[in-house]
Amino acid sequence: MRRVVVTGLGLVTPLGVGVQHAWKRLLAGESGVVSLIGRNGDPRFAELPSTVGAVVPQGNANEGGWNAIEWIEKGDDRRMANFTQYAIGAAEQALRDAEWKPTLDEQKERTGVCVGSGIGAFDDTVNATAAYEKGGYRKVSPLLVPRILINMAAGHITMKYGFRGPNHAASTACTTGAHSIGDAARFIMFGDADVMVAGGTESCIHPLAMGGFARARSLATEFNDRPAEASRPFDRDRCGFVIGEGAGAVVLEEYEHAKARGARVYGELLGYGLSADAHHMTAPPSDGSGAHLSMRRALNHAKLPASQIDYINAHATSTPLGDAAENQAIKALMLGKDGKQSASEVNVSSCKGAVGHLLGAAGAVEAIFSIMALHEGVLPPTINLHNPGDPAEDFDCNYIPNQAQEKEVRAVLTNSFGFGGTNASLMFGKVDV
Ligand SMILES: *[C@@H]1O[C@H](CO)[C@@H](O)[C@H](O)[C@H]1NC(C)=O
Ligand SMILES: *[C@@H]1O[C@H](CO)[C@@H](O)[C@H](O)[C@H]1NC(C)=O
Ligand SMILES: *[C@@H]1O[C@H](CO)[C@@H](O)[C@H](O)[C@H]1NC(C)=O
Ligand SMILES: *[C@@H]1O[C@H](CO)[C@@H](O)[C@H](O)[C@H]1NC(C)=O
Repeated sequence: MRRVVVTGLGLVTPLGVGVQHAWKRLLAGESGVVSLIGRNGDPRFAELPSTVGAVVPQGNANEGGWNAIEWIEKGDDRRMANFTQYAIGAAEQALRDAEWKPTLDEQKERTGVCVGSGIGAFDDTVNATAAYEKGGYRKVSPLLVPRILINMAAGHITMKYGFRGPNHAASTACTTGAHSIGDAARFIMFGDADVMVAGGTESCIHPLAMGGFARARSLATEFNDRPAEASRPFDRDRCGFVIGEGAGAVVLEEYEHAKARGARVYGELLGYGLSADAHHMTAPPSDGSGAHLSMRRALNHAKLPASQIDYINAHATSTPLGDAAENQAIKALMLGKDGKQSASEVNVSSCKGAVGHLLGAAGAVEAIFSIMALHEGVLPPTINLHNPGDPAEDFDCNYIPNQAQEKEVRAVLTNSFGFGGTNASLMFGKVDV
């Protein structure tokens, strides 16, 4: 089997643009969640039950901010919706980081892209609908369809660099980023490509999208006056997720290919597991008693026992049901017959306290944080965690509360679960090149 390693990372997140900026703030326990009241001068944010969001900061890249003109060619912003622009920014960083700038046709033909989004160009659709209702056909833009297609982030990345390998986009709600990375790794393992740019992107902090999530009772509503405390995975007072935006992209590469060109290797993608709940549109099964299939399958793929996992980067979005179900599932896996002896030995944290829930980008951004934990030997904290769960919830693992912990890490697992009951887990490990 061809092996797959990670050689490049790129981030556009509410904690900043650029892996170094975002990682430093994550380890420092900072929050990227802000009040949305007054955003874009739009009064409709104020009437929502949840008025907080994790927003990518504006500014120049050298200070960790987002400024589209640093990433997008002049005029291309008209052709690219926001989610595509963020993806271009993350992909460019990852390719620079990997120092992969192929010039030969055969190299470009062996390089592919797998970048998806959960929701895509939400405000384009809303604006086009409003214009159409008012002005009819003559108000329809020729750029409407090219801006809103979910696969257009991947498409634009291929066009920018001339990559002619697989050009693919998953859209599986909040599991999108993890599926994109896992599927891309399979393309390399199977021989369809030697290098893949893979990740997820999202930009839908719009009052109507938030209205939908609020009606589904998914959003945090109790901390509108204290935005930085609103996202609190595993904490007793958690009350829903905080919507976020951004993108994450990795460069995945076949092991021998990376070795031959002397690339810096962050780690190896050891396992990828996928599963379905077949249960409910938005809620997970609460028992968690059954085998947690996606994690178990990632371990099976890696051919490793649960005891080998040093750190789990949880999906935990700060919802009452979701965090409890994942906690049960993690404990069932990690304290099973091939796992650890006690819950306090299980190291698990959720970065969503700091960056909120980036929906289709979450799996990719969190895979990058997991790879950084592996690479640097530091576990990122779960911020706002002051009282783990209710006693009845059995929250007795080490959730890395509020402060990063230094720790030699050889293997990490990261989870992503999406509406529709779609689960995926990725496992990364150290590799010597
Ligand atoms: C949609 O319309 C709003 C209000 O005019 C505007 O602020 C926003 O930039 C538009 N979004 C897009 C993607 O065109
Ligand atoms: C998309 O970008 C435009 C222009 O920067 C901005 O006005 C709009 O609010 C953004 N849309 C979302 C959903 O963030
Ligand atoms: C999917 O994830 C949820 C949330 O942790 C978990 O309760 C459920 O058991 C998982 N299902 C499968 C099939 O892995
Ligand atoms: C979890 O982290 C703690 C504190 O850093 C450490 O002492 C322990 O060994 C870790 N557990 C495992 C199983 O790696």
